[in-house]
Amino acid sequence: MHLILVVTAAVSLISPAWAAAPINATAVCQEIAQKLSNASAVFYPGAYGLVYAADIFHHSASSSTQESVCSVEPGTAQDVARILQLVGSTRTPFAVKGGGHSWNPGFSSTPGIQIAMTRFNTVAYSKTSQYQRQAPNGVVTFGAGMVWNDIYAALDPLNITVVGGRVVGVGAAGFLLGGGYSFFSNQYGMAVDNILAFDIVQPNGTESVVTASSDPNLFWALKGGLNNFGIVTAFTMRAIPYTRVWGALVAHVNATEAYKDAFEVFNATSTDPKAAMLFGLNGIGGQSIQYAVMFYDGPEQPAGIYDAFLNIPSALVNSNGTFTMSGLLAAVNVGGLLSGGTGDQPRGQSGIVLIETYTPEIIDTVINEISINSGLLANSSSAGFGFSIEPFSPGYLTRTDPLRTSDSAFPPTWTRPYSASLCNLGFEWAGAANDAANLAALQGSVDRIQAAETKQSGMTLPTYSNLALADTPVEQLFGALNLARLTAIAKRVDPGKVMQLAGGFKV
Ligand SMILES: Cc1cc2nc3c(=O)[nH]c(=O)nc-3n(C[C@H](O)[C@H](O)[C@H](O)COP(=O)(O)OP(=O)(O)OC[C@H]3O[C@@H](n4cnc5c(N)ncnc54)[C@H](O)[C@@H]3O)c2cc1C
Ligand SMILES: *[C@@H]1O[C@H](CO)[C@@H](O)[C@H](O)[C@H]1NC(C)=O
Ligand SMILES: *[C@@H]1O[C@H](CO)[C@@H](O)[C@H](O)[C@H]1NC(C)=O
Ligand SMILES: *[C@@H]1O[C@H](CO)[C@@H](O)[C@H](O)[C@H]1NC(C)=O
Ligand SMILES: *[C@@H]1O[C@H](CO)[C@@H](O)[C@H](O)[C@H]1NC(C)=O
Ligand SMILES: *[C@@H]1O[C@H](CO)[C@@H](O)[C@H](O)[C@H]1NC(C)=O
Ligand SMILES: *[C@@H]1O[C@H](CO)[C@@H](O)[C@H](O)[C@H]1NC(C)=O
Ligand SMILES: *[C@@H]1O[C@H](CO)[C@@H](O)[C@H](O)[C@H]1NC(C)=O
Ligand SMILES: *[C@@H]1O[C@H](CO)[C@@H](O)[C@H](O)[C@H]1NC(C)=O
Repeated sequence: MHLILVVTAAVSLISPAWAAAPINATAVCQEIAQKLSNASAVFYPGAYGLVYAADIFHHSASSSTQESVCSVEPGTAQDVARILQLVGSTRTPFAVKGGGHSWNPGFSSTPGIQIAMTRFNTVAYSKTSQYQRQAPNGVVTFGAGMVWNDIYAALDPLNITVVGGRVVGVGAAGFLLGGGYSFFSNQYGMAVDNILAFDIVQPNGTESVVTASSDPNLFWALKGGLNNFGIVTAFTMRAIPYTRVWGALVAHVNATEAYKDAFEVFNATSTDPKAAMLFGLNGIGGQSIQYAVMFYDGPEQPAGIYDAFLNIPSALVNSNGTFTMSGLLAAVNVGGLLSGGTGDQPRGQSGIVLIETYTPEIIDTVINEISINSGLLANSSSAGFGFSIEPFSPGYLTRTDPLRTSDSAFPPTWTRPYSASLCNLGFEWAGAANDAANLAALQGSVDRIQAAETKQSGMTLPTYSNLALADTPVEQLFGALNLARLTAIAKRVDPGKVMQLAGGFKV
């Protein structure tokens, strides 16, 4: 994002020096309001601005929520096209928000015009479709304004699910446009591997359904290439049949060594791709807190692999059982554990390192980060920081499953392994004055874990855009080859650079 904008005391935006005329975003909001059908609406801040406030709200409220001149809730694709035409022709900065779970300011928030996709909120399951070969159990089409737990809740009565998110509140749109790591990824790959069609409004206002056959390049680009190609209104994914899943969340204090041992058991004994887990090592409020989330695609607890986690004595939390997918997300929600508990939405930022193989050495590197960062509490108002160890099965991305769709923009292929686990860092704190100290500490942890991983694997795996720090070089997300291809596709579908007016990683 190379536009530098100044928001005046009133509501107009001063355009950069090279632009012909100053941008009056209020006037653009009013023009949009006049052109929209009655399925859509524009909202302004102010005493009764409750819808506006919901539209600009983000998960990490105080760091990635921004005040916008107005918010727009389009209700039809045609209205999305009208909005894109108006922001494009006036060069007005805008943002598109799905679930608002981006950590980075400006990625789905803006001082310009906030487009909130919330009215695209329907879910439909169809047993038959034109994608019968890739989706023998049918397809699910859902609106781009939805969060995963609502999609699951709509599908649960049908004993159908999709390869989607693991945490309550995460939006489908941002997750899918970035790649998507799921509890089902060991079985079915990344979420993007399961997308069959994107309903999109292209930057020039053209509405289209992009599939592997309609526009193979754009289809590839949308699978991981983020918000660079237009505004998606609906996604169609392969339906996954299921009955019930088994899941558990446990949490402890001062049990780091026991968690390390329990992970070694899981790592050595789990061969069933229906099993997936993650565990967190955290410093929260001065305490060393650990948690584990366990998952199995079947109604019973799988034998052996999770016992060591479940048997660690003195659990603070043990929530386990057989669930629907929406029930599972509610039961294993670690959000409550991690929030600062002050009532204020803390400031926060995530970081990410892809790990080829979680060896004891890498785990020890991560454990060491807890003590390295313990000093943050003293003078940087840290609410807590955590490292989520998210192992996936070796080789899980190998595209041998004939049902998976074609290649995708993310992850890029690299020399070895069609596999990568995640180390997801999350730091939360209070007060803008403490941003610099906490961000520097987070960056330090990312760098040290990355160095240990690079030393071990002998290569640098890509970085996952959806959890990456905003200053990550775009080439590090996609690799040079994929980036060049993405840039060429963006040039074709967005010659007017309309999507460059929205923040995020730009190709
Ligand atoms: C608590 C938490 C848990 C998470 N868990 C996981 C996980 O298990 N696996 C995983 O892979 N990731 C996970 N993530 C990361 C998550 O994938 C990203 O935060 C993702 O961007 C969320 O999507 P969203 O729609 O909520 O985001 P938003 O902030 O709304 O949007 C993110 C980006 O997508 C763009 N965008 C949104 N909607 C559209 C649209 N309709 N058309 C075009 N562009 C659009 C936005 O402009 C923005 O650039 C998690 C994040 C959090 C905060
Ligand atoms: C911007 O447009 C609004 C609405 O048309 C108008 O009231 C306002 O005076 C304009 N602001 C500037 C700085 O021109
Ligand atoms: C919205 O517009 C449509 C078509 O113009 C009309 O049929 C409908 O009654 C309107 N709905 C409302 C709530 O005004
Ligand atoms: C879904 O699965 C549950 C549990 O096995 C079963 O009781 C229910 O009848 C199933 N529903 C449908 C629609 O198949
Ligand atoms: C955890 O360990 C710390 C440091 O040794 C100690 O101060 C604290 O009381 C312990 N907490 C619990 C709940 O055992
Ligand atoms: C499940 O949770 C209950 C309630 O906390 C606990 O008593 C039981 O031991 C747990 N079961 C397992 C397998 O951990
Ligand atoms: C997990 O298993 C892999 C493959 O056997 C091994 O290389 C790695 O060291 C193990 N990790 C741990 C933490 O035991
Ligand atoms: C705490 O403050 C001291 C003094 O300003 C500084 O040197 C140190 O780096 C800070 N520690 C952290 C972790 O921010
Ligand atoms: C919009 O762009 C698409 C290609 O991405 C093209 O097929 C279509 O003709 C364009 N429409 C207009 C109205 O320019």
